[in-house]
Amino acid sequence: MHKSVLLQEIIEALQPHSSGIYIDATVGAGGHATALLKASAPDGQLFGLDQDQSALEIATRQLAQFGHRVHLFHANFEQLAQVAKDHQIPKADGLLLDLGVSSIQLDQPERGFSFQTDGPLDMRMDTTTGPTAADLVNRLPEVELANLIYRYGEERQSRRIARAIVKARPIERTVELAQVVARASGSGRSGQAKIHPATRTFQALRIATNDELGALERTLPQAIECLKPGGRLAVISFHSLEDRIVKQYFKQESQDCICPPEQPVCICRHKATIDIITKRPIMPSLSEIDENPRARSAKLRVVELKRV
Ligand SMILES: C[S@@+](CC[C@H](N)C(=O)[O-])C[C@H]1O[C@@H](n2cnc3c(N)ncnc32)[C@H](O)[C@@H]1O
Repeated sequence: MHKSVLLQEIIEALQPHSSGIYIDATVGAGGHATALLKASAPDGQLFGLDQDQSALEIATRQLAQFGHRVHLFHANFEQLAQVAKDHQIPKADGLLLDLGVSSIQLDQPERGFSFQTDGPLDMRMDTTTGPTAADLVNRLPEVELANLIYRYGEERQSRRIARAIVKARPIERTVELAQVVARASGSGRSGQAKIHPATRTFQALRIATNDELGALERTLPQAIECLKPGGRLAVISFHSLEDRIVKQYFKQESQDCICPPEQPVCICRHKATIDIITKRPIMPSLSEIDENPRARSAKLRVVELKRV
């Protein structure tokens, strides 16, 4: 079961209303989409995207009760502008990006996201395309592997881990990789927070396999482009690398000038396109974290397209 994170906060942020147009670009199990459709009854429309075909099948069942008000597409959200054009999606009143993987994906051993259950080292959200985590683990030169684990996992022991991985190659299974990483990092003696020693390496491989940060960077401008004046974009991120991208992009697009501070007069002619609604990110309440530990690192940022 996937519990939608910050559900009430998303409804408050996007203020769904009847006849509104909503795009859920990470429709997943359809939890947020269900709430948006209920709150925009009787005739709000929801356009949902997911790059995971099996998530879309779940969303299709979950959202069937709303009939013709729902339109689902198998697509990476970085194709948002193209999908909107091809399917003549009207400009939206609200757009949601709830980043990362769902509990359903994490809980399926055959998807290879979890180091706690054995499965093939896959980690692709879209299983129809792209290299798997095993391809990265088994093919990348040691230095590149270390850099990837350091950058996307913020793992201090990245070099030791990469060396051990290269020595143990080929590695095809999740538990095999988790054991190699645990042995290399000295199981918990890292001084970093008390998490499983493979957590950061698995996070790094998942981010790299799905090019999660690149996709986010390429999608934010398209998401703004899909809004109608006064429409809102809400982004839920789950780690600091994602949140930094969202925060910086929102800051830049909310400013009239983005010249470097040493520039005496403006030469960029940049015009603010959005207003920031959440000066600070909204985080889950303690009771939500209690009920759903996955929510603990969530941060919600919301912007509104200017009305001019
Ligand atoms: C956290 S879950 C969303 C859960 C959903 N909001 C709910 O309430 O059920 C994230 C979903 O986004 C999808 N996803 C992640 N990155 C994506 C991308 N670049 N393009 C399309 N879908 C993506 C994942 O496959 C997953 O199903």
